[in-house]
Amino acid sequence: MATKTTKTTKKSPARAKKDVKHVLFVASEAFPFAGTGGLGEVIGSLPKALNKSGEIEARVIIPLYQSFPQEERANLTFVTHITVPVAWRNQYCGLFEYEKDGVTYYFIDNEFYFRRSSLYGYGDDGERFAFFSRAVLELMPFLNWKVDILHCHDWQTALTPIYYKLYYMFSEPYKGVKTVFTIHNIEYQGQFSSDILEDVFGISFREYMSIEYHGCINLMKGAIDYADYISTVSPTYAEQIKTAEYAHGLEDVLNKNAGKLRGILNGVDVVTYDPATQPALFVNYDADSIEKKVQNKIELQKMLGLPVGENIPMIAMITRLVSHKGIDIVRHAINDILTRPVQFVVLGTGEGDHESFFKHLENLYETKVRARITFNKDLAHKIYAGADIFLMPSRSEPCGLSQMMACRYGTIPVVRETGGLKDSIPDCGDGDKGLGFVFSSYDSDSMRYAVERAIGLYTDYRDKWNGLVQRAIRADFSWNKSAREYLDFYKKVTE
Ligand code: GLC
Repeated sequence: MATKTTKTTKKSPARAKKDVKHVLFVASEAFPFAGTGGLGEVIGSLPKALNKSGEIEARVIIPLYQSFPQEERANLTFVTHITVPVAWRNQYCGLFEYEKDGVTYYFIDNEFYFRRSSLYGYGDDGERFAFFSRAVLELMPFLNWKVDILHCHDWQTALTPIYYKLYYMFSEPYKGVKTVFTIHNIEYQGQFSSDILEDVFGISFREYMSIEYHGCINLMKGAIDYADYISTVSPTYAEQIKTAEYAHGLEDVLNKNAGKLRGILNGVDVVTYDPATQPALFVNYDADSIEKKVQNKIELQKMLGLPVGENIPMIAMITRLVSHKGIDIVRHAINDILTRPVQFVVLGTGEGDHESFFKHLENLYETKVRARITFNKDLAHKIYAGADIFLMPSRSEPCGLSQMMACRYGTIPVVRETGGLKDSIPDCGDGDKGLGFVFSSYDSDSMRYAVERAIGLYTDYRDKWNGLVQRAIRADFSWNKSAREYLDFYKKVTE
């Protein structure tokens, strides 16, 4: 175990309120401090919602990345520093604390591992997150806060439940801690060559079976086996990942562990995604003033240099440009869709080939298409608010948050019936019910037909369309219901 050189050794665990369980969220990102997508949104909003219940206290621990806002660094409180073993290395590990919106955040500092321009994508990502996962455990005695549940998210933190069971669970103050592992996307499993088992992960070949899968190291597989409970981000995805079609090879491990798997749908931060108050919007509006929404389209058209016309249906995609997001069927269908009098705006980055396709499309359809190949939150809010139709034809989608954000802004989603899209967007039929346009078969014709239905309702039945817009804005995508389900889940975990 590590040698601890602490500045402040606060060893006596304190509990504010009896029976209030303490849940430590262990993750590689949390908005607004660091984020690349849905995971960051969830870690940045679920703990807040849980703490409001007063039934548990959730805190969050993430790496201190270079992206942490410079102006806020002065507000970080230094807690302690220790050294953490990464196999045979002993690495410096600083701990900082910060409170925001009723949540305590801990930041793990090691400039060698985390002071880099991106969060991921380095040759030593395995080592960086092995360090992080181990540091969480090593730091637990110094938090002055007894952890009841370690709630770990995605492969970057998969080693925490594994190390816990291998090396920590029988000693104080670790005894009795429960571990939960949440799968946000099963496609990214943390796979590495078995050569680095001892040298990087510090796990001996005797224990190889804990993280071995199909001849290589698979950290997510290890966490599924080792965590006390596992969850994923929608009920439908919880079922899907037990099948070969969706599990990216992990179906057997999930079937074996099916008894400890739950599916709980994410919510979104409805305060940030509120058209009545979001400062990035050109004009604010709510369900009772949807006539103002169109001003956002007009200003967006001007900003993007598109022809201005308030009745031109605007279709938007805000997405990572990767294949599971359904980009291939969009590429097949888009020329047909663009024969209609519509505008199409896409925002996001991803695979080079997809990026080039949309840039090329913009050149071909100067008056109809805009492709912004970037990650820009301010522009995202403006597009969510300005568009009429939000296209999300994912091949697989663990939960998906963009369809909920679009609804918050009264922009009607066209989605494929899969994962969390199925669980959050009921089909609107002929316009009098539901929240969007749903298609089930993963092919470009089915998608195009759903888009045509949306354009048809928008163009020919504007009263029904407006009713749909109001329903979407009023739909409850807050964390309230899901936070309740997590609270029940935590009760079960600690039973
Ligand atoms: C991942 C999934 C997405 C989900 C998000 C938050 O990004 O791909 O579907 O909404 O995690 O759980």
